[in-house]
Formats: sequence, structure tokens, C-alpha cells
Amino acid sequence: MTAPITSPPAPGEAEDPPRTTGAEQPGDDFDRDVLPSPPGATAALLRSLLAPLRARVTFTVLFLLLQQAAVQAGPLLVAYAIDRAVPAFRDGDHGPLVAVGAGYLLCSLAAGALQYGFIAASARVNQDVLLDLRGRIFRHAQALSVDFHERYTSGRLISRSTTDVESLRELLSEGLQELITVVLSFVYISAMLLWLDLGLGAVAVASFGPLYALVRTYQRRAGRVYRQRSTAIAAVIVKFVETMNGIRPVRAFRREAANDADFAALNRRHERTNGNALLEMARYVVGSRLVANTTVAGIVLWGAYRVADGTLALGVLAAAVLYLRRLYDPIDRLGMFLNSYQSAAASLEKIAGLLAQTPSVPEPATPRELPPPVSEHPGREVVFDAVRFGYRTGGEVLPRFDLTIPAGQTVAVVGSTGAGKSTLAKLLARFYDPSGGRVLLDGTDLRDLAVPELRRGVVMVTQEAFLFSGTVAENIAIGRPEATREEIERAAKAIGAHDFIAALPDGYDTDVRKRGGRISAGQRQLVAFARALLADPAVLILDEATSSLDVPGERAVQRAMTTVLKGRTAVVIAHRLSTVEIADRVLVMEHGRIVEDGAPAELIAGTGRFADLHRAWRDSLA
Ligand SMILES: Nc1ncnc2c1ncn2[C@@H]1O[C@H](COP(=O)(O)OP(=O)(O)O)[C@@H](O)[C@H]1O
Ligand SMILES: [Mg+2]
Repeated sequence: MTAPITSPPAPGEAEDPPRTTGAEQPGDDFDRDVLPSPPGATAALLRSLLAPLRARVTFTVLFLLLQQAAVQAGPLLVAYAIDRAVPAFRDGDHGPLVAVGAGYLLCSLAAGALQYGFIAASARVNQDVLLDLRGRIFRHAQALSVDFHERYTSGRLISRSTTDVESLRELLSEGLQELITVVLSFVYISAMLLWLDLGLGAVAVASFGPLYALVRTYQRRAGRVYRQRSTAIAAVIVKFVETMNGIRPVRAFRREAANDADFAALNRRHERTNGNALLEMARYVVGSRLVANTTVAGIVLWGAYRVADGTLALGVLAAAVLYLRRLYDPIDRLGMFLNSYQSAAASLEKIAGLLAQTPSVPEPATPRELPPPVSEHPGREVVFDAVRFGYRTGGEVLPRFDLTIPAGQTVAVVGSTGAGKSTLAKLLARFYDPSGGRVLLDGTDLRDLAVPELRRGVVMVTQEAFLFSGTVAENIAIGRPEATREEIERAAKAIGAHDFIAALPDGYDTDVRKRGGRISAGQRQLVAFARALLADPAVLILDEATSSLDVPGERAVQRAMTTVLKGRTAVVIAHRLSTVEIADRVLVMEHGRIVEDGAPAELIAGTGRFADLHRAWRDSLA
């Protein structure tokens, strides 16, 4: 997706990212869902999310700690009732039984109140964490350079900020409470059992060994399955988004049946991984129940013998069985919790990988301002100084490129498809940084230029004139949101867009939602021109920006261009040679090199490539 107005990247999350160029970063890994991230990135992300909420997290845990203490007092009170209060009651002493009843009631009330406090406190923590995380993903993805977005599909980004954030939400809202509760109850109950009766306690504690082994095995295996599952669901989303984004070519080339088949296959793969996850879960549940029930049976049997012997009080045995039930009850849920933990961990890992990406076009560490323009015109000098550049995925596109464009000059660039014209434009707009050499604006390296300066300095209009949701006026004013309605209309009039805009249902206030659906491609380009004109840049780049206009429309724009470009430095990449007429200078590019360079009349009169091209074009018009 190429926005028509060039905006240098906003500040990244990293305080001072190292300056890297396209050539230095690894170019693989982008086909996988998990981007490479430094070790410990996931844990660091979690810490940084929770750090601002430390006080509230502490409160939340405290509520749960107290709540568990109140809950786990229950069986102890039962033991006391059976062994002391009931015999005392039989002897006519009501006191202990009333005390036990009151204590039980009090503990239940306290547990309820504390649970309420916990839920309220944790809900706020969860919401803050998720809010923060979604914001970070958006800001970071937006700050990443164009080449990142060319390789990391928008479908994947969507699945990061929906599916992955959602699985974290599940963990935080349900799973985490479960984990802390289970861990706390294990600690409390083990202590109680050991205190009540060392032997019974030891048997219960011994059962933790096999349970722990089961949990670890489950974690390991489910972790793998969950990663597969979330990759599979991401693939489903990517396919969906890509198909709907490309619905026109899908229709035009009758791709529906093939897409259905692809989508069905991806969907099935997701189902399969889902099934595998459930199987792992089932194995775990069955195994852990076996351990739990065997232990309970053993304790009941041994306890009964000892009660008969008189070495164990009946109340203590009852309390032990109650405790064991409480201990093993949440084990199924522990499996479920581990599910959500696994999938949240997998999601967090992916999010951390995304957030660890640094912009390949980083902001300058010490940004520089441009000197004030020398003349009253806004134009500035552009220099390509021994620039070398290649995309990550291909060979060198510009082998060694030298070019000086004096301030205020309009340069037309022509050349066959793939010659490197757009690449030249994108380097000048700083979508990419060169792997060698420098691009200078009035003597300042674009890499050192302060972001607002670059934004004001260089604006590019491409053939893909993207309109954002909002009104036509808002779309024109994107480069200068503070512009008045008069300024917006003046820009539209200068470019010849006013008449069609005025004819829209709400004129300048017409909503262009759905990718400018109500506006034709040519009209979109006119809006993009008006937008660029209003932004008032020193350097204007037009990359086949009139390609959707008909010949009269293009003529009209060209006439307007002569006023618009006056005093600005302009690079006009032309797809029709008529554009060349407004240029001061023509460059012919082939294979990343300038093969001809001169005034239009001079080249036309000569015997070079451009003269041939121009003659052929003249003939075609006749
Ligand atoms: N995003 C990209 N990733 C990889 N290669 C690219 C990319 N964009 C362009 N190229 C390659 O760079 C070369 C020059 O492309 P480009 O500058 O778009 O040419 P032009 O605009 O003159 O048609 C072509 O070989 C093209 O395949
Ligand atoms: Mg091009």
C-alpha cells in the first residue's frame, strides 16, 4: 500500500535504533509468522506492560491471597466441628458449634467480598494491558518502513492485533486467576494437610510428582500444537484479507473456485490443529484424574484403617478428603488454563517479534533542519551522490547513481518498465535508504533530516491515489490538516478538481468511504494532486501520477502543473511523452543508469533513444 503523500516514519518504540540499511538486515523469516526477536523479548514485553500497573497488580494478588485463606479455612472448621464441636454439643455445650457455624459463615462472606475485590481490580489491570498492547501494535506497525509492509502482509498484522490480543485477553481475564488460585491452593492445602497429619500430608504431597510431570509434558506438547494452531488461523485470516482486497482481479480472472479450494484447505488445517490441541488436553485430563483418584482412594483406605485403630481422628480424615477434593478439582481447569496460557504465550511471542522490528528507515539520532531556501521559491537542490540500492529480495537496482537536480528544475524521467524510475522516486521520498552513497536535499543527507522537515520537503504522488475514509476536503488536507476551506478549494481549482468535487452529493463534505468507491480512479488522482499541492513541498515527485486520466484530463492537469511546479523542484516520471513538454530537462533511464540527459528540444533533435521514442510517439499521434 503506497500512500500518495510521502510521510517519513514516525518515531519507533526503540529509543535509538541502530542505523541499518536494507542490505544489512536478514531478508528471510518473513514467510513465518514468528519474526526473529532477541532472547527474552517476550518476557520483557510482559514486564513492560505490567510495570506501570505494579501497584494494582500487587493489590490484585493480595485480594486473591486473602480470599484463598478464607476459602481454605472451610475443611479445617469441618474437622473441628466433627472432632470437638459435635461431641461438646452432645455434652450440652452449644458454644463450639455456634462458633464453628459463625466462623464458616464469616469465612464465606469474606471470601465472597475478596473475590469481588479481586475481579474488579484485575478487570482494570486487564483492560489497561490490552489497551496498551493494541496501541503499541498499531503505533509500531505504522512506524515501520515501507519494506516491512511489503513483506509482512496486512492480514498478519490484523491477526496480531485481533486473534493474538484476544488470546492474551482470555488468559488475563480467566486463566491467570486460575493459575494463581491453583498455585495458592496447592501451597495452602499442602501446609494444612501436613499440619493436620504428617502421614496423610506426605501422601498428598507425593502425588504432586506425577502431576507435575503430566503438566510439563502437556505444556511442552500443547505449546507446539498451539503455535501450529495460531499459525494456521493466521493463514486463514491472511487468505481472507488478501482475497477481499483483491476482489476485482479475483472476479476478473474467475479465481473464485480456486480460492474456495485454497481457503477450504487452510480452514481444514486450522481444524486439524484444533483437534490436536483437544487431544492433548484429553490426555492430560485423563492422566491427572487417574493420579488424583488413586491418591484419594489410597488416603481414604489408609485413613479408615487408622481411624479404626484410633490413631486418626474422624474429623481430620474428613477434612483431608475435603481438602484433596479441593486440591484436585481445579486440575481439569488447570488444563484449560494451560491451554489459554500456551496460546497466549504463543501470541505474545509473535507480538514481541513484531514489536522488536526496527524501522529500516530510522529516524535520525540528531535531526537536522534545512537552511532557509535561497530564493523566494520553495524549491531545493536534490543530489544523488554515488547511490547504490537493491531491494532485499533482488539484485542491485541502482548500481551507482549520480544525479544533481538544481533547485526549481522540473525533470522528466522516462525509460522502460523496470528501469528503476520508481525506485529513484522512493529513495528521494526516503521510503528506503540507499545501501551506499547519499541522497541530499540542499546538501543535507535525508537520513539526518528531521522528520517534519522531510515531510514538508518531499511529497510523492503515485498512480495509486489512496483515499482515506473521511470527506474529500479532509483527504485533500492530509498534508496540512490546519488548511482552511478556501485553501483547500484553491488547491482543487488549481488542479482542475473543483468542478467534479462541487458536483458530488455533499461537495467537499462528501464521504469517500470504502476506498473512494464513489469516485473514479482519475478523480482520485486529481484529489491526490490537490493534496500534494496543498502540502506545498520543496520537491514534488509524480510517479506516473496521471496514468488514470484520459488525454484531455491529463492535458488539463499538465497546464495546471506548469503553475504548480513553478519554483519547485520536480521529478516527473512520465508514462506518456506529452508530459515531457513541461520539463526543463529529460533523463532517460535504463537498467538503473541514466543513458541520456538533456533539455527536451536538444534530445529530440539528437539521434539518441529519446529522439527515437519521441518520433515513434509523434507518429502514433498522427
Ligand atoms: N518492492 C520491491 N521489491 C523487490 N524488487 C522490486 C521492488 N520494487 C521494484 N523492484 C524491482 O526493481 C527494479 C526497478 O523497479 P522500478 O523502480 O519499479 O522500475 P520502473 O518504475 O522504472 O518501472 C525492477 O527490476 C523491479 O522488479
Ligand atoms: Mg514505476
